[in-house]
Amino acid sequence: MSSSHNPPRDAGPQTRLLHHDDQLTPGFDAFVTPVARASTVIFPNLAAMRALQWHDDNKWRYGLHATPTSLTLAKRLATIEGGQHALLQPSGLSAIVNVYFGIVKQGDAVLIPDNAYTPNRELGDWLSENFGITVQYYDPLIGAGIEALIQANTRLIWLEAPGSVTMEVPDVGAITAVARKHGVVTAIDNTYSAGIAFKPFEHGVDISVQALTKYQSGGSDVLMGATITVDNALHRKLKRARMLMGTGVSADDCSLVLRGLPTMQVRYEAHDRAAMLLATWLKGRPEISAVLHPAFADCPGHEHWKRDFTGAGGLFSVVFDAAYSPAQIDAFVEGLAYFKIGWSWGGAHSLAMPYDIPSMRSASTWPHRGTLVRFYIGLENTADLQADLEQSLQAHLHAA
Ligand SMILES: Cc1ncc(COP(=O)(O)O)c(C=O)c1O
Repeated sequence: MSSSHNPPRDAGPQTRLLHHDDQLTPGFDAFVTPVARASTVIFPNLAAMRALQWHDDNKWRYGLHATPTSLTLAKRLATIEGGQHALLQPSGLSAIVNVYFGIVKQGDAVLIPDNAYTPNRELGDWLSENFGITVQYYDPLIGAGIEALIQANTRLIWLEAPGSVTMEVPDVGAITAVARKHGVVTAIDNTYSAGIAFKPFEHGVDISVQALTKYQSGGSDVLMGATITVDNALHRKLKRARMLMGTGVSADDCSLVLRGLPTMQVRYEAHDRAAMLLATWLKGRPEISAVLHPAFADCPGHEHWKRDFTGAGGLFSVVFDAAYSPAQIDAFVEGLAYFKIGWSWGGAHSLAMPYDIPSMRSASTWPHRGTLVRFYIGLENTADLQADLEQSLQAHLHAA
């Protein structure tokens, strides 16, 4: 019996509460994708259920794997990035896990850039400690030199462009060309660009990972991630792994991300403009020894950013003069009023976070001695943010 079965008039009141012939209102149209919540998906008959193929992306099987809301979001994400397929995960990190589980098996080797998102590094280390996978870190500016690190069992190369804390921009095309020659899958954490400022598939990347928690959501109120691919065989590998990981996303959360997408480009551009202004101002400050912003000519890998990217968004980092102690920099960060202390980014509010970079690296030499602070520039008035930075610099780095 399907849900559209019209219950007989003599069915009991509780049965009539459950069985009805509701249908979406024909002719009702809106900009908003309806929220389709479901665990159970019902089939008209057993033959239809038995005919289902697990890899068929357009047939409903079980709410864990897709609902009309999550499928709509996945299709839009694939379109933004220039991909063909997208799979949703409950966080950016679980999308990264999906790549490992879909591509790598015991005995395989993985290459990770030294500036990768730290949980990706920790995951690589954990897999190598517990699951017989070899992990090697590489200098993010290695370019075609990555060929020397590829071994017969190398299965996956991660990229992050730029590294979301230290901002080196790799030569993505040089790395993917070598990977393709050796039949190695490449996966990029493309969260920095939101998929709008960098198109990974045009540069030979196989898998793009997005933490939708950031710009796509834009509201700092939802966690979600995605893997995006062009190749169908690769998509199926990731899809199979995701099904067996048992992860899914709620339709309510999907609707939050869908609500963010129409404004994403203008938000990204507004963050970009404000970040450029403040990074430029900070570059002229005597307390700062380096500003790490991919659009600046002295940022490592700037030439790759200039060649491959159309924008930079709201993230950049600064390195303070080594004369200031980490405790002074902590006081500066805590002395900010509009910049809040917290993980993640991509929302409306500005953030600041100090990092101990040497403790996060193993394959490349960090050239700076002072403390690094990463800023995420939100949508507050830029003049207010600049005044906030100035008052805290003055109060904590110039105290008599
Ligand atoms: C570059 C990058 N990738 C991935 C993630 C993971 O996203 P999530 O917080 O949704 O797990 C983050 C989160 O901060 C990130 O900064």
